[in-house]
Amino acid sequence: MDRIIVYGGNKLTGEVNVSGAKNAILPILAATVVGGNESTIFNVPNLRDVEVMEKILLSLGCKIKRVDNIMWVDSKPLDQVKIPDELAREMRSSIILMGAMLSRCGEVIISYPGGCEIGPRPIDMHLKALKDLGAEIEESHGFIHCKANELKGTEIQLDYPSVGATENIILAAVKAQGTTIIRNAAREPEIVDLQNYLTKAGARISGAGTSVIIVEGVNEFEKDVTHYTMPDRIVAGTYMIASAITQGEIILKNIITDHLQAVIAKLKEAGCLIYSDENSLKIIGPERINSIEMVQTLPYPGFPTDMQAQIMALLSIANGISIISETVFENRFKHVEELIRMGANIKTFGKVAIVKGVKELTGAKTTAKDLRGGASLVLAGLAAKGKTEIENVYHIKRGYEDFHKILKGLGANIELVE
Ligand code: UD1
Repeated sequence: MDRIIVYGGNKLTGEVNVSGAKNAILPILAATVVGGNESTIFNVPNLRDVEVMEKILLSLGCKIKRVDNIMWVDSKPLDQVKIPDELAREMRSSIILMGAMLSRCGEVIISYPGGCEIGPRPIDMHLKALKDLGAEIEESHGFIHCKANELKGTEIQLDYPSVGATENIILAAVKAQGTTIIRNAAREPEIVDLQNYLTKAGARISGAGTSVIIVEGVNEFEKDVTHYTMPDRIVAGTYMIASAITQGEIILKNIITDHLQAVIAKLKEAGCLIYSDENSLKIIGPERINSIEMVQTLPYPGFPTDMQAQIMALLSIANGISIISETVFENRFKHVEELIRMGANIKTFGKVAIVKGVKELTGAKTTAKDLRGGASLVLAGLAAKGKTEIENVYHIKRGYEDFHKILKGLGANIELVE
């Protein structure tokens, strides 16, 4: 089984060109099926989750070509409505195909999705909204069968600004009869990227990035699209912590700095020096990390839950006590026991973790339990004394392109053993 082995202690220095965003490309790839058009997409990250989505689209009948970070999708030949079971289970994002396939075919059959084990992650809001738009949904033996002769625009008030539910509703509403208004919509930048892609194909959407999104259904939706995927703000944040935790000096290129403001604010509180312009930044790690009174994860523009594990690794060597409150997911502290193996002093009380900084972490054998938790162990290993082993690297490959190679290029003593 793949393992990452890292010997800690090296300061990381150099430049990283941040890849395209996983959480933007997945809904955009789902969106390619809506119109029966051709899409040329640039800055597509080379990730396991993207491969899974590619396989799903191929199984539905789409034609796909891929050269490096450019992907070409022709969804005209799509002729299947069942998402293969083993692929849907592998990745939670497969559920955004529900809205896209309803738009395209008026029918979709999908099994309950998989993905990171970070809490119950129900899909009740997705299903309720699709029903409100006119879909009939039958659930049996682990499968969801959605059908709609006609989707009709409506007003949807989300109980929580769910990213996936907001995307699913947009995808179902683009070709519906009439106007759909989504209130309490998620405001994540990845939803703006989806709006940008769909608008180029002919959709009429406004408001992405705010909590009210308006989708006017259109009949014509088949323009060919060329799109450049937005940069990955979580990958960027992870490399910022790689610099912070090693007293390093890393320059990030190809970012949208504005998307990183919540992370920048906390890392400044931790004592990092950060210089930025619109699309790049330089971060210098301090000799000793300051503790942070409170890091609370929230929907965007709050501190991202996808950066919680990484900042916990950093605060585990801070000068004092920090509190981390995870408000987005139920069960997102699986990395805690692994960090404790490395000498961290962390106690959890439900969705709150108290992190008492230690002077030094020590290398240990650890296991990645999910994507971001896995990245946090690599970060901890960069700072720890001696050798750290991280098992179950497949979790990390879901969301980081060439992670160990990039860290090696920055000066880390790290290798992937396959
Ligand atoms: C997306 C991101 C993920 C990120 C998360 C929160 C993608 C591919 N994944 O996941 O990386 O961590 O946003 O920023 O973009 N919920 C319900 N019922 C529902 C839907 C969600 O209760 O029908 C709950 C979830 O269990 C969770 C919270 O709402 O507690 C937020 O989930 P959501 O915003 O939907 O996250 P995802 O779209 O799954």
